[in-house]
Amino acid sequence: MSYKLKIVELDKLPPAEEFLSPRELKTYNGFKVEKRRREWLGGRYALKKLASGFFIFDIRQIEVVNRTSGQPILGVPGGCSLPVSITHSGDFAAAAIATAGMGIGVDMEVIEPRSTAWMKQSFGDDELSSTAPVFLTELWAKKEAVLKFMGVGLSLDTRDIRFINGRLQFYGRALDLWARLGSPKVQIDIKDLDGGYKLAIASEAPLL
Ligand SMILES: CC(C)(COP(=O)(O)OP(=O)(O)OC[C@H]1O[C@@H](n2cnc3c(N)ncnc32)[C@H](O)[C@@H]1OP(=O)(O)O)[C@@H](O)C(=O)NCCC(=O)NCCS
Repeated sequence: MSYKLKIVELDKLPPAEEFLSPRELKTYNGFKVEKRRREWLGGRYALKKLASGFFIFDIRQIEVVNRTSGQPILGVPGGCSLPVSITHSGDFAAAAIATAGMGIGVDMEVIEPRSTAWMKQSFGDDELSSTAPVFLTELWAKKEAVLKFMGVGLSLDTRDIRFINGRLQFYGRALDLWARLGSPKVQIDIKDLDGGYKLAIASEAPLL
């Protein structure tokens, strides 16, 4: 496996002062919406805890910053090239760190019924072999994990990333971007979490 994953419960986080840098604490204290503050903190804790296993620095010296695209990166003294990803949903947050040079994207979603309008807007007809909430939630988590793997959010049409009979296919702008990234072989892992969540991890399959 080319990545490490950590899942945390938002109700069981240590005090923010114990793991955030002074700059991160300022950002944390600036959030107006409690839900956003809590999930942001959970994502930071999961990623920084995971990263502290890779470095000799105190956890407060390891920072998580977001590019203008929203993509998270690790900031450590001397620099760091390990790709990372964060997700949060409901009571959980999760983060992953990949081997240097490999892509990574994680997405966690609560299993719940979705509207027909959302379904039509999000998926190609050829993907919808079922409309059961469990199936659609997993499919959506896989797409978002791939979007994060590629370093983009929902600026791409999610129908340009399709899972047909379980196989990932790229179309349109997503295909162009995938080619620019060197046409990596994307591997998808799925975890079922207690409480009715699907967690998808898109990682780069090592070349044999
Ligand atoms: C990225 C996106 C697909 C995730 O959506 P989501 O399922 O609602 O939320 P998740 O909890 O699973 O993921 C959120 C995390 O994705 C990460 N993320 C955001 N944009 C990303 C991108 N372009 N590439 C990779 N990861 C990204 C961030 O770490 C974010 O958490 P954080 O803000 O606490 O650091 C969606 O939020 C999106 O398209 N955002 C647009 C980008 C954006 O927000 N830009 C503004 C930058 S300030």
